[in-house]
This record gives sequence, C-alpha cells and structure tokens, in this order.
Amino acid sequence: MEIKKVGVVGCGLMGHGIAQICAQNGWEVVVREIDQGQLDKGIGKVRKQLGRAVEKGKLEQADADAVLARITPTLEYGDLADCDLVIEAITEDLDRKLEMWEALDGVVRDDAYFATNTSSLAVADQAAATKRPERFIGLHFFNPAQVMPLLEVVRAERSGDDAVQLGFDLGEQLGKTTVAAADNRGFIVNRLLVPYMLDAIRAHEQGVGSVQDIDTGMMAGASHPMGPLTLADFVGLDTLVAISDVMAEAYGEDGFAAPDTLRRMVDAGDFGRKTGRGFYDYSGEEPVPVDSGS
Ligand code: 3HC
Repeated sequence: MEIKKVGVVGCGLMGHGIAQICAQNGWEVVVREIDQGQLDKGIGKVRKQLGRAVEKGKLEQADADAVLARITPTLEYGDLADCDLVIEAITEDLDRKLEMWEALDGVVRDDAYFATNTSSLAVADQAAATKRPERFIGLHFFNPAQVMPLLEVVRAERSGDDAVQLGFDLGEQLGKTTVAAADNRGFIVNRLLVPYMLDAIRAHEQGVGSVQDIDTGMMAGASHPMGPLTLADFVGLDTLVAISDVMAEAYGEDGFAAPDTLRRMVDAGDFGRKTGRGFYDYSGEEPVPVDSGS
C-alpha cells in the first residue's frame, strides 16, 4: 500500500518527532492528543525544530510552512478515520494503549495498518485488542526521532508479511536504518540500553562516581554522545521506570529492576528533562548535576 496519510496518536516526546518526520516526507499527518494543552505543546516543539532548521539554512521558510500545514492536530479519533497507517506513541501503559486501540479500531478504515512505538510492551498483546492483528506491527523509533537513524521493525505473532514489509518500506522512505527485532520485551536496543542506564544509577548509588563523572566517563571513555544519566533524563525517568518494570517481570533478572533512587525521583515528580529536574537541574542556562550541591 502506498502511504499518503499517517495518523500519530500522542504528540509528546516521541509523537511530535514522528509526526514531524512523516510530514517532512510529504505525507499528510493527523496527530491526536488528549487535551488542547498537550497538543499545543507538541506542535510548538515541531514549530521550534523547523524554525531552527530554517535559521541554520537547512530548510526554506516556505518548506517549513508546508511541513506544518501538512500536520492536522486533533483531539478526536474520528479525524484519523481515513489514515493509511496509524502509529501510537502514547504513555507506556498497556491498559491505556489497549483502550486506545479499541477506540481506534472502530473508526479507522479496515484496510489501514496499525503500529505501536512501544519501548517495552508486547506488540502481540496490543494487536490482539484489535480486529486486525495481521495488519499490526511494532515500529520503534528513537529519541529524538528527527535525528536518530534507527527504526526497529517488530513482527508480532500474527503480523502479516505485507505489514512487516510496510514497516521496512516506511523506514527506508524516512531515511532510517531498519533492523528486524523479535517481539520480546525491549526488542534489541532497549534490551541492552535499559540495563546499562539502570547500572549507571546503581553505580552512582554505590559512590562509584559523581553524576558528572559517570557521564563524562562514558562520553570520553566509550565515545557515547551522552552519558548514561543524561540519557536517562533525556528518555524520561518515568518512562525508564515503566520500561524496567515490564522487563524485570519478563526476564526476572535483577539487572532490569529499577533502583531505589530512580523510583524515589519519579515519586517526587522528577522525570528528567521534561520536568526540568532529574539527575540534572535544567532550570538554568546549562544543566547542573543535582549531586553537585550547587
Ligand atoms: N529534535 C530535533 N532535532 C534535534 C533535537 C531534537 N530534540 N536535538 C538535537 N537535534 C538536532 C540538532 O538540531 C542538530 O541538527 P543539525 O546537525 O542539523 O544542526 C543535531 O541534532 C545535533 O544536535 P546538537 O548539535 O544540538 O547536539 P549533539 O551533537 O549533542 O546531538 C543528540 C544531540 C543527537 C541528541 C545526541 O546527543 C545523541 O545522539 N544522544 C543520544 C540519544 C540517544 O541515545 N537516543 C536514544 C534514546 S533511547 C530511546 O529513544 C528508546 C526509547 O524507547 C526509550
């Protein structure tokens, strides 16, 4: 199927980026959020990213305007009715995702494809909540979706070959590097990356190094673009807890369990960059490690 119109459910950290790259690729995009405030915030981020690209001379203003014009923000599932593909990027909570798929399944064209951008939940569990499991796949993008080259394409138990092929074709059209991943918890990247971030938090709890030194260590010693604690803040500490809970249950290994520090921070409402505070305080010009005492 040739994609012309894509629905994106969720306009948060991942959803706004997915909506942006799809619109940049020339597709009509309908992006749905639960309230106007969230929707405005997400579209504001797209506008800001496009504005930066124009400032840097990487995009003409007219092209940036055209990208924005291709994105229709909505609060109604009904506006996604004639999409060829719907990608969900809502909170990492199975009950909420199932509720959403049931609502969407009734309104979106029967021959449209569905994809979940879940970080850790089973694709098959979500597919089973719809009447189109053969048209259902996992498409796992990475944050920031506008920049990160990878797309994991996940075949679930009942995904059809055409749906999986659509995932690879979409990745190619978006200029992504695609890999096939099994429908296990965390697929390939989070299966390896999440225990690494959790271990960095445990290393900090054990006094192995300060927040800054752990991050600098991995950046300067292993050439990572971000240290693991900056990355945890970037992914979102609430999301990290949600993923680690799913993985700890699935794998039964201590390495996947959320450390106490992480849970305490999330309980206190410190979700990382998105709330302005995590392992770093983001309220000033530059992030300041919270263990620095400044
Ligand atoms: N949105 C859009 N574009 C962005 C962006 C954002 N949030 N952040 C940075 N960029 C763009 C910049 O505009 C710049 O574009 P240009 O090259 O065209 O000028 C380019 O990215 C590089 O940005 P900067 O020069 O500002 O900064 P860096 O060179 O430090 O790069 C980074 C920023 C790309 C975020 C880099 O630090 C990085 O790769 N970090 C690691 C990110 C990572 O590991 N992501 C995966 C997280 S795990 C995940 O998403 C899975 C989930 O399930 C949990």
